[in-house]
Amino acid sequence: MQQADLTKRINELKLKRNAVILSHYYSRPEVQDIADFVGDSLALSQEAVRQDADVIVFCGVHFMGESAAILSPNKTVLLPEIDATCPMADMVNVEGLKILKEKHPEAPVVSYVNSSAAIKAESYICCTSANAVEVVNSLDADEVIFVPDKNLAAYVASRTDKKIIPWEGHCPTHHQILREDVLKMKEKHPRAEFIAHPECRPDVLELADHVASTRGMIVHAERSPAKEFIIGTECGLIHGLLKAVPEKTYYCVSEFACCPSMKMVNLEKVLTSLEKMQQRVIVPEDVRARAKEALDRMLAVKI
Ligand code: 13P
Ligand code: SF4
Repeated sequence: MQQADLTKRINELKLKRNAVILSHYYSRPEVQDIADFVGDSLALSQEAVRQDADVIVFCGVHFMGESAAILSPNKTVLLPEIDATCPMADMVNVEGLKILKEKHPEAPVVSYVNSSAAIKAESYICCTSANAVEVVNSLDADEVIFVPDKNLAAYVASRTDKKIIPWEGHCPTHHQILREDVLKMKEKHPRAEFIAHPECRPDVLELADHVASTRGMIVHAERSPAKEFIIGTECGLIHGLLKAVPEKTYYCVSEFACCPSMKMVNLEKVLTSLEKMQQRVIVPEDVRARAKEALDRMLAVKI
């Protein structure tokens, strides 16, 4: 089917099912273009609660659909590609986290939303890359356990007085961005600002003019006097940057900064998902209720 026909059919089914399509900025451009809302992980969680549709089609990876299902149990949350999982989310397990909690009984657990519902259920509070520092600083504790991203943990540690006890996880897409990649791009584009996602390595963040979540990068590109930017995150964001601030120029820091999982959803899969009402995200109720407490605490933190 041609793209225009796919879009037409998706829009017809959206009306019929009273569905909305939410997409992360890392999705394929054509998927972002048919979405009702495109955002970073924080905005997507907030939007899932705000929407009054019966069905949410989540164009992203598994943990994102899970967060929507945890927060909105009365809605049907569909993932067009159930096998699109986040490798970083899979780097932490409940058994390991329980052992760490036993070692540090006074330390509340902050889990990055890039984690499973079961990990969220074992956590006191969640965070995203947009609010991690504020979430940690909101806690009445001198030390906190932070899972699963060691790079985001290091970034938070550099901006808080609290002791951060990290987990050894990382995002393969951001972790493979190296200092050399940035230095090469800076040499090629000396007038460009380097803006980086806090999932990058600490020695990469040292080179950044600005560190922010994906949405934060778009806001920064709007406000900064710079005309060119080297983008230190998954390159799908460039589509969002070009839509929001088309008069500026963006260079992806590395041709390898691509998340294969985020690219698994395409228009055909979105259509099939709406046609067959699949794949539904189901979170067991006891896990969902505990995970929701951690997400609700996060959503109550002001940034
Ligand atoms: P944000 O959406 O918080 O910018 O995080 C990026 C990410 O890696 C999502 O998988
Ligand atoms: Fe996970 Fe990284 Fe892909 Fe985001 S970009 S879904 S953190 S692997």
